[in-house]
Amino acid sequence: MTATAGPAADRVTATPRGALRRPAELARDLDVSGLVDAEGGLLDRAVFTDGSLYRQELRRVFAPSWLFLAHTDQFHKPGDFFTTYMGEDPVIVTMDRGRTVRAYLNSCRHRGARVCRADSGATRNFTCTYHGWSYDLAGELVSVPNRDGYPGSFRTGDWGLVEVPQVASYRGLIFGTWNPEPVPLTEYLGDMAWYLDAMLDHDPDGTVVVGGVHKWTLDGNWKLAAEQFATDWYHVNMSHASALMLLTPEGRRPRDEIVHRTGRQYVGDNGHGAGFPVHPKNRFDERAVHDWTDYAALRARLGDARVEGPLTNGHATVFPNFSYLPVNGSIRVWHPKGPDRMEVWAWTLVDRSMPPEVREAQRLYNLRTFGPSGIFEQDDGENWSEVQAISHGFITNQVPLNYQMGLGSERHDGTYPGRTSELYSDAAGRGFYAHWRELMNTPAWHEQEPTR
Ligand code: FES
Ligand SMILES: [Fe+2]
Repeated sequence: MTATAGPAADRVTATPRGALRRPAELARDLDVSGLVDAEGGLLDRAVFTDGSLYRQELRRVFAPSWLFLAHTDQFHKPGDFFTTYMGEDPVIVTMDRGRTVRAYLNSCRHRGARVCRADSGATRNFTCTYHGWSYDLAGELVSVPNRDGYPGSFRTGDWGLVEVPQVASYRGLIFGTWNPEPVPLTEYLGDMAWYLDAMLDHDPDGTVVVGGVHKWTLDGNWKLAAEQFATDWYHVNMSHASALMLLTPEGRRPRDEIVHRTGRQYVGDNGHGAGFPVHPKNRFDERAVHDWTDYAALRARLGDARVEGPLTNGHATVFPNFSYLPVNGSIRVWHPKGPDRMEVWAWTLVDRSMPPEVREAQRLYNLRTFGPSGIFEQDDGENWSEVQAISHGFITNQVPLNYQMGLGSERHDGTYPGRTSELYSDAAGRGFYAHWRELMNTPAWHEQEPTR
């Protein structure tokens, strides 16, 4: 299976509006310099609440960035498909007849309905349920009811699905971007790939998905979740105190190494972030996974630093909205649904070489901890909704937030790739918002080229 850059067909356009010319006033810019002081560690709450900023985010943060689409294990034969979102744009990800994974805007070229309403499945064609236009796996319009009713100038070749121009995969993770000329995915990930490999590269067989995709809705801006996964180990001891107590043997207090850990936090150049405790005996929490794991082999493959650090407990975000937790193989996307809501989509990954009973144990462990009703997940969602719920207050909205922990601590430490900070630090959060600020203040490709 391959996931490659899509073909440059004529209908693959960066601004798929045909001959129309959208007035520039619809894309007014807001300078966000005064909202993000990444250097001083301050953030204006308007970044979570303002509708104009949100619309600018869709066009300058989501449209040009590499966004997670799906896992390669979801596509085994031509016609397998999965529907998801890029920002608020619905997309179909599917394998074409040449076994290339491609992605299309899930919106009919006739009146705009979705041409695929299923979450996933297998098909030969995507047929719109409104008037019946039908598209093949290459996105071509192949059937139009009452075709004779259209003028002679109408050509089905002009009305195929709009294709996501760039799709690429990294160790099973498929990403796409609307930017027709992005930096290559591996370059975009940069040093983040080293940290990702701690979850994705345990053995040459890679990872597979178990248990489908869980989806749930939360009140709260998507960035609250993305920044926490990039930068925030700080909340663990307080927010998850009851969950930690639950996991501690009866009659004992949570062990010191749980509540007062040392570790590092990676501060990525493109807004990525990852934090992880460091301990020579770091291990997977789920007993069956721990017992099955060959730690010596992992040390030989990935090196001691990765096994003792980012391989097990930890948190990470690939900017903007893909996050993961290596200890339980949870990967998730925070889909934006307006400034005040997000939809969480979560998968569980396991090593392909895991036997069925170990896969099942990991799946259940993930459900109990970070599933929609998991003992940790509920704490996190409650926090994000709490922050969002009050942020619209006129006075509240003007009181800046503090991201100053570990200010100035970022450095090349000689062990971990890229710049790192302390485990308890806001450094990757500052990096997240610095990159967000840069994208928000920079015209995206669709604003730099003349409209077709
Ligand atoms: S909206 Fe799809 S066929 Fe009319
Ligand atoms: Fe948490």
